[in-house]
Amino acid sequence: MLGIETSCDETAVAVLKRGRVTAETIVAQNDLHADFGGVVPELASRQHARAITRSISDVLRQSQLSSPAKDLDGVAVTYGPGLAGSLMVGVSAAKALSLAWDVPLVAVDHMEGHLFAGTLMSPVDLPSLTLLVSGGHSQLIEITEPGRYVELGGTLDDAAGEAFDKVARLLGLSFPGGPEIERVALLGDGSYIRFPRALSGDTLDFSFSGLKTAVLRYLEIHGPVNVNDVAAAFQEAVVDALAHKVGMALRKREYRSVVIGGGVAANTLLRSRIEELCAAAGVKAVIPPKRLCTDNGAMIAAAGAFRLGLGQVAALDIGIDTSLSLA
Ligand code: KG4
Ligand code: ZN
Repeated sequence: MLGIETSCDETAVAVLKRGRVTAETIVAQNDLHADFGGVVPELASRQHARAITRSISDVLRQSQLSSPAKDLDGVAVTYGPGLAGSLMVGVSAAKALSLAWDVPLVAVDHMEGHLFAGTLMSPVDLPSLTLLVSGGHSQLIEITEPGRYVELGGTLDDAAGEAFDKVARLLGLSFPGGPEIERVALLGDGSYIRFPRALSGDTLDFSFSGLKTAVLRYLEIHGPVNVNDVAAAFQEAVVDALAHKVGMALRKREYRSVVIGGGVAANTLLRSRIEELCAAAGVKAVIPPKRLCTDNGAMIAAAGAFRLGLGQVAALDIGIDTSLSLA
């Protein structure tokens, strides 16, 4: 299965053979957007258009597929959610390949892709609890049978990754903010600053805009501060909030596995906190390697293989869906 991902600012293509990645390429655009503190849609789509053909030919060469038309089961592509112009580049390329090679086109939900990154590591035992945390989403999802997703909690305002990106900007760090905050937090001590935590009460929803405002107020009141300490305290607050909700969900029902996915799942503190929680609860933790947490083509190929197995082939006139929702 060929997987193509262009929903945001990574042109990512991979080939998956029997659940193993045999070729992959990721062209990131961080430098392009760094000065703006966020992804500029118009620049992103242009860069995808420049990179996509080369990316596809690179993975085909790496994977040593002698005849894609014969050797590929299908071409899977992200068709939403994401940026319209960016999605269109990947979808157009996938349609062209599907038509030229006469192989099935499979339309994949980007968030289902993040969810399937875990399956590239180990089987996901059901019922499963999945924490999806990316630049646009924070979701707690329950899976009781393959392909059926129930959202237990979602984003009320800023997504977790968005909070990392916005706070990084407040702290004068570059984009994307998550890895930057993680890097400087290692040098800091956040223990004497306590930012607000999760929404209280019984809800499994997430809210991070209050936390962002609290960081802003802190900076206004305290003037020039030690950025490393503020970053460490902020990271601690986000991870605490996420782990708290996962812990709450684990107490409500018995799960056989906990999966994490999305760019924020690359965060080392979050990974270790989830591992501890799962160990204490006696639940299997499925924590994909960091490169499979951020956007990549392999996760799209994996979700595509699942959808194709259900016979879900997309028509060649399929459109994009910028606000597609998994559950
Ligand atoms: O899943 P992803 O690559 O793209 C989207 O689907 O949005 O996630 C990107 C988000 C960004 O907000 C980025 O700051 C965050 O994931 N991120 C991290 C880390 N690496 C990426 N956040 C915290 N710690 C990290 N190590
Ligand atoms: Zn993503």
